[in-house]
Amino acid sequence: MKKRLIVDDLEFEILIPEEKIQQRIRELGAQISQDYQGKVPIFVGVLNGAVLFLADLIRNLSIDCEIDFIKISSYGDARVSSGAITMIKDFSADLHGRDVIVVEDIVDSGLSVSYLRRRIESMKPASLKFVSLLVKKGCAKVPLTIDYIGFEIEDKFVIGYGLDLAQKKRELRDIYQIVEEVGKEKE
Ligand code: IMP
Ligand code: MG
Repeated sequence: MKKRLIVDDLEFEILIPEEKIQQRIRELGAQISQDYQGKVPIFVGVLNGAVLFLADLIRNLSIDCEIDFIKISSYGDARVSSGAITMIKDFSADLHGRDVIVVEDIVDSGLSVSYLRRRIESMKPASLKFVSLLVKKGCAKVPLTIDYIGFEIEDKFVIGYGLDLAQKKRELRDIYQIVEEVGKEKE
């Protein structure tokens, strides 16, 4: 039986254990270091979810880098994306002429990523790529290119390793997936 967890009356089971997450991040770090040899990319973490991933990713690089953060919200505290994106905190760095790598925790509808792409492209970076630890299979409502993907997962709600349920459980070292009750899919 898989490791289980109850949060706010919802049942979760382990999906990706810590060792697998860390192993995959080592691979992504090596790949990005190779692709950006001789460059100093700026990693833009999407708050709050991507904080843990960004911290581990940059510690697995063998090149210099800078970091910055942006905070947007598409979920509020609901379990299903509201569709509307609100900017809560803008970048601090000047991204003009920079090699920008946006760091996301998870891509679901893809609306956040396409919003960020439009915004950053208007700042004329030298290059722009996206890395996401998780991508939900077949969910994107818009055409997307995610350059580096940690894991492709089913379209089910997940928590842990930065991902929250109403702002909680981000601190979990493993990623857990919701165990859907029969006949009760996403509300
Ligand atoms: P998108 O704009 O629908 O792609 O949503 C992306 C954002 O929604 C992510 O950066 C997460 O913050 C949040 N999100 C999407 N799916 C989940 C999930 O299963 N658990 C927790 N947060 C999620
Ligand atoms: Mg997020």
